[in-house]
Amino acid sequence: MRLQLEVWRQDHANDPGRFERYQVDEAGAEMSVLELLDMLNAQLVDEGREPVAFDHDCREGICGSCGVMVEGRPHGPVDYTPSCLQRLRSFSDGDTGRIEPFRSEAFPVLRDLVVDRSGLDRIIASGGYVSTPTNAATEALTMPVNRNEADQAMDFAACIGCGACVAACPNAAAQLFTGAKVAHMASLPQGQVERAERVRAMVDTMETDFGSCTNMGECEPACPADIPLRVIAELNREYRKALWQHRRTEEPDRRGIRWLSRLRTGPWWQSDPDERPPGGG
Ligand code: SF4
Ligand code: FES
Repeated sequence: MRLQLEVWRQDHANDPGRFERYQVDEAGAEMSVLELLDMLNAQLVDEGREPVAFDHDCREGICGSCGVMVEGRPHGPVDYTPSCLQRLRSFSDGDTGRIEPFRSEAFPVLRDLVVDRSGLDRIIASGGYVSTPTNAATEALTMPVNRNEADQAMDFAACIGCGACVAACPNAAAQLFTGAKVAHMASLPQGQVERAERVRAMVDTMETDFGSCTNMGECEPACPADIPLRVIAELNREYRKALWQHRRTEEPDRRGIRWLSRLRTGPWWQSDPDERPPGGG
């Protein structure tokens, strides 16, 4: 089939960018969006023009590298599917398709369809790890984990870090991504050591680079890993619990400091030797 394409071209991060129109004559309904871009690039190279830059790696929905907007939808028109697995079945001969980078303030465009998603890496770096030593793999495997919790942790671990949830969100919020990571680690024994510290750090970092969630729910169908919206509730629950624990561990210290300073100065009537306690003692 013949497709008319409007593709975002931007030479560098400070270039204002523009849509350019191309025609691809032999697109197939079973081709993926990335294969369509490959075909276009082969054509552009033959014509001595600059190919379109776009991110990709595994091309089988595992790595999270790919991610473009197709017809205004992160990844493409089919829900729960990454760009590399989006087929062109919804297009017919003569149709026009618009391909542009993920549109989000949190993901500045670097070139053409490539965006900077390092904001997600910063969230992970701030707490998305466990420091429990498990030594040999067999030792890790001998730690008993309840079957339901293991299944749940696996579901949350499916997040591939593509950022489509952020691109789909009108607030550019990263709650689905952060919620998946936090809920994954909170479900497993290895994640308990830094559980409270982790969620506080990850939420603080998330709020620096991304917007705030207002429960629009746009992220869930855009997610190729089928991460459920309830991870956002899990994230909020974990965060509130962590803040509460933090306050409880901080409070005795502050009370301790007040108490120690009392000891140093003595009761108010002793801070002035001329003063006597009530009752004359
Ligand atoms: S939660 Fe889904 S959409 Fe968001 S980064 Fe993970 S896999 Fe991608
Ligand atoms: S290229 Fe790896 S998920 Fe699409």
